[in-house]
Amino acid sequence: MILVTGISGALGSLIFDGLSARGDLEVVGGTRRGDGTGRRRIDFDDPATLVDGFAGADVLVFVSAGYAEDDVVLARHGAAADAAAAAGVRHVVYTSLASSGDLMSIALAHRWTEARLAAAPFDVTVLRNGLYAEVPAGLAAAGAVSAASTGVFAAALGTGKVSVVAREDLADVATRVAADIDNDLAAGRRSRHAGQAYELEGITAIGGDDIADMISSALDRPIEYRAVSLAQARQDLAGSGLEPYQLAHTISLFSNVGAGLLEATSTDLTTLLTSEPRPVREAVVEVVKAGGYQSQSIATK
Ligand SMILES: NC(=O)c1ccc[n+]([C@@H]2O[C@H](COP(=O)([O-])OP(=O)(O)OC[C@H]3O[C@@H](n4cnc5c(N)ncnc54)[C@H](OP(=O)(O)O)[C@@H]3O)[C@@H](O)[C@H]2O)c1
Repeated sequence: MILVTGISGALGSLIFDGLSARGDLEVVGGTRRGDGTGRRRIDFDDPATLVDGFAGADVLVFVSAGYAEDDVVLARHGAAADAAAAAGVRHVVYTSLASSGDLMSIALAHRWTEARLAAAPFDVTVLRNGLYAEVPAGLAAAGAVSAASTGVFAAALGTGKVSVVAREDLADVATRVAADIDNDLAAGRRSRHAGQAYELEGITAIGGDDIADMISSALDRPIEYRAVSLAQARQDLAGSGLEPYQLAHTISLFSNVGAGLLEATSTDLTTLLTSEPRPVREAVVEVVKAGGYQSQSIATK
């Protein structure tokens, strides 16, 4: 049986739906708001829920649960690893962060979790997910508000770019890998995915000029990119309602983009997908047109 955690979340729901749609697998979903019947209650912050939550699972698709300070994330991920071992899970698939993000502040919890899982008695496959297309979409939507009146998109991206990927592509890879593993285990063999860490970097790199172009397409007027300093960005974000840890992660993202670290040079994405990666530019333009991306939280794990 395959158990997917976090199925109320955007990524977890796509993976759960993808596995369920195959029709040839036993798939169970877990979520903090689970009712114990159709959806198991799985809350990493409440390890008691993990005893029943993980019972009977051969393959655990462990969707990372960021959106908190590092000490909280480490505690919840550690609890999940311990519970998976205690429940006799045979193979864990963990959704992590791509290597280009190694120096981002959000990498700490992911690399810690990878190490914790590697020391556990089950096999592990790490899906090192690239940054979502929501990253430039969030920047574009936030920047479009003032760009509409000033004609300028201002951001602390320097001349760097960030490689981004559609979340649906990441879910497709996770679905395929988890299904392969379950089939391998059912056939009585250790999966070929055991011990692998797949780099799922996006193939599209987007920088400040690109985002200005996207805003321009959405607003149907010329928009120019203007790089601002990290200090300016920190000041601008101070009153935005971000949690302190989100502010730190967002500045870390800008810092890494500006340093040119987030433009990926290689990826396993195209090997593991059965079709071309989804285009991301159009998606960003649609988000800006819809004006619906309110969250300024763009690098929050
Ligand atoms: N690569 C990127 O660019 C990027 C960007 C943002 C986040 N992420 C990471 O990728 C993960 C999935 O992304 P997403 O887009 O699906 O985020 P999302 O829609 O905001 O969902 C958050 C996920 O975290 C789970 N979660 C939170 N607290 C939990 C807890 N105490 N116990 C168990 N699960 C908990 C939620 O599960 P339930 O609500 O179902 O309980 C849900 O699956 C995030 O949690 C974050 O770690 C990656």
